Amino acid sequence: MLESKLTGLQEQAAAALDQAPDAEALEAIRVDILGRKGQLPTLTTQIGKSMGKLPPEERASLGKLMNAVKQDLESRYEARKAAFERAALDLRLNAEWLDLTLPAPGTRPGTLHPLTQIQRELEEYFNSLGFAILDGPEVEDEWHNFDALNIPATHPARDAQDTFFVEGGLLLRTHTSPVQVRAMEKFGAPLRIVAPGRVFRNEEVDASHEHTFYQLEGMMIDKDVSIGHMLYFLKGLLQSIFHREVTVRLRPGFFPFVEPGFELDIQCLLCGGSGCPVCKQSGWVEQLGCGLVHPNVLRAGGIDPEQWNGFAFGLGVTRLVMMRYGIDDIRHLAAGDLRFLRQF
Ligand code: PHE
Repeated sequence: MLESKLTGLQEQAAAALDQAPDAEALEAIRVDILGRKGQLPTLTTQIGKSMGKLPPEERASLGKLMNAVKQDLESRYEARKAAFERAALDLRLNAEWLDLTLPAPGTRPGTLHPLTQIQRELEEYFNSLGFAILDGPEVEDEWHNFDALNIPATHPARDAQDTFFVEGGLLLRTHTSPVQVRAMEKFGAPLRIVAPGRVFRNEEVDASHEHTFYQLEGMMIDKDVSIGHMLYFLKGLLQSIFHREVTVRLRPGFFPFVEPGFELDIQCLLCGGSGCPVCKQSGWVEQLGCGLVHPNVLRAGGIDPEQWNGFAFGLGVTRLVMMRYGIDDIRHLAAGDLRFLRQF
């Protein structure tokens, strides 16, 4: 009689637990059946009271049954509850799922052009060494671009084939060197300046030549400036851009505005000097022109060459960017193709 009441309750409670439609309903069923004043404890208490009257074997088997029923219902409850929790979590994970590898929605933030990035690194390097950063006009006069730089009227660079002349005796500057002259005129000696900027040459465009490219001019004027000083700054510059030790060499090079004049080469960073396509098997890559400022140039800038001397250099920033990132065609840098530019 008690036994059948118990199994009856078990059957009905098991069905209710198994079929609870949601977590709230399940909780209500738990309270109704397993709760402190629920159906099972009530029945159990009732059974406990009349247990004393039963023979010991029946008492034991009834006790066992009570435990079994309780355990069965509790584990059904736990299983159902876990199922609801898992479903709720799945729902949340589905709703809040986020693919962090996808590009963020909306307009992509831009990045600085690699030329701008390197130009800023160069400026930072020279700024930290006490050099002022100057700008100069891209449309220059012949005096600043040529005459003041000791470039005579007969020099081939002054041919219209090589230079873009514009109306009124002006031209697109062929190098950043005219800023040397403008700086001397404006500030006198001593002087430490760098001048980044665009320069223009009437050049057939190919993988390594553009009509428009970027240079960085540098000039230091003081007492007893030597080639050793110049090398210190230039080697430091290359090391700060390439982030490693570099080996450089000077070769004689002719620029009318320096005496002596040099080409500075860097030992090829790709092959370490053993020879490869980038250095055309020579082990060295030309990086910049430099030298000690010609007395005529100091004089043209209003500085007395008996009292002062200095060094100057002109660095091809475009070429530096190509070396640093291993870019094999200069035209990539001017094309404005975002697929290319987004890599930097
Ligand atoms: N102006 C030179 C060029 O464009 C580079 C240079 C600058 C060389 C300063 C020596 C000193 O090639």
